[in-house]
This record gives sequence, structure tokens and C-alpha cells, in this order.
Amino acid sequence: MQTSKKITIAIDGFSSCGKSTLAKALAEKLGYIFIDSGAMYRAVALYAFQNKWISDSHFEKEKLIENLPNIQLHFELNSSTQKPEIYLNNQNVAAEIREITVSSLVSKVASIKEVRQKLVAEQREMGKKGGVVMDGRDIGSVVFPQAELKLFVTAKPEIRAQRRFLELKATDPNITLEEIENNLTERDEMDSSRDESPLIQTNDAVLLDNSDLNPAEQLEIAYGLVLERLR
Ligand code: C5P
Repeated sequence: MQTSKKITIAIDGFSSCGKSTLAKALAEKLGYIFIDSGAMYRAVALYAFQNKWISDSHFEKEKLIENLPNIQLHFELNSSTQKPEIYLNNQNVAAEIREITVSSLVSKVASIKEVRQKLVAEQREMGKKGGVVMDGRDIGSVVFPQAELKLFVTAKPEIRAQRRFLELKATDPNITLEEIENNLTERDEMDSSRDESPLIQTNDAVLLDNSDLNPAEQLEIAYGLVLERLR
């Protein structure tokens, strides 16, 4: 459905709970732009990793902060999958940012104020005309507090880990469920407890637990909420 009124839709929630799947499907159905803000934090983490400023045991935050102006991010639509893919300084890094190495470092990078300031400014610019579905951790609370529809998506931890495991196993046969469970727990904990824009469910967000929903059912519920907001 495409109407002339275009709203802003913010989808936040814990790691691997299907936010991006929902955001992408909703954007497609509405003819809106879909932005995966997590991909932007992941790309910055990858940049820090490539430059050896971060590892499991060290983090040269100042180096990363100094070099933030050298990080250019943009999305391009992959014409065969119809998925927007992220580019880091004109290199497609859509696959690399999903690797477990990046997953294990990204929450440290995302806790830095200067990183957030840069990415929030870019996200606001991308969504300034409305007609956008953006998913992340602080979209309803910080990036677009005025969003007409805010969803807070969640699912049982074991279900989230299992879903991510099946997804990652296709490209990384050595990955274990335990590794993923640990990563999700650690990221949820860091994302919810950090000082800068922690993950919270805002009072005006609708809670959507998709533990027992398939993607189509989840989309139907979200789409119904959009129609209410458009009325
Ligand atoms: O959404 P995804 O799991 O890819 O996000 C990766 C990480 O990026 C999160 O665990 C979180 O640390 C960070 N993030 C964030 N704010 C957002 C989106 C992602 O802090 N809006």
C-alpha cells in the first residue's frame, strides 16, 4: 500500500529478535526506505578492527574517535536480493559485518558517545523526509523520538539464539550455538546498561513478542498498527 502520508516507524529491541526482517518487509509493503542502523555500528566496529584499534583485549578509543571523519558509510540496494547493503569507504562490507568477530566487538564501539553522535546525525538525515522504517536500539528514544509508530520487538532468548545460529551456520559451519548465546547475552547486557542511549522500551512503544510468530504474522500485526497511525 502506498499513501501520500508518510510516517516514521522506529523498531527497537534486543539482539537477533527479527527487527531487521520486520523492518525490511514493512518498508517493502509500504514503499518506504528501510535503514538497518545496526549495520552502521557494525561497519564502524569493522573499521576499528581492520585498523587494529580494537580486539577482545584492547581498545584504543581515542584513535577511533580521531578517525571518525574518515569513515564514510552509505547503503546501496543489491538488485538481486533487493536488500540494502552497507558500504564502508566505498567497499561493500555487508557480509563481513555479520561475522562473529564484529558481533563480539560492536557493543563496545556503540557505547562511545562520539560514534553515536556521528551515526545518529547520519540516521536523522536519511530519515528526515519521513517514509522510513529504521531498526536499532535507540531509534524511538533518541533518533526519532517523534516517530508516529514505535515498536519494541522481543523474543525468548533461546529462540533468538536458535534463529541466529541457523542464519550464521550457512556461512560459518564452525559456529556453535553456545558462542551465539554468549554473544547475544553479552550484547543485550552492554546495550541495555551503557550510559549513552541505552536500549529501553519507551512508554509510547508497542511491545511485540514474536517468540511464537512467524515473519508473516509479525508483519501483519505491525502493518495493522501502521494503518491505525495513518488513519
Ligand atoms: O542490530 P544489530 O544486532 O546488527 O546491532 C549491532 C550492535 O550495534 C548492537 O548490539 C548495538 O551494540 C549497536 N546498535 C546500537 N544502536 C543502534 C543499532 C545498533 O547501539 N541503533
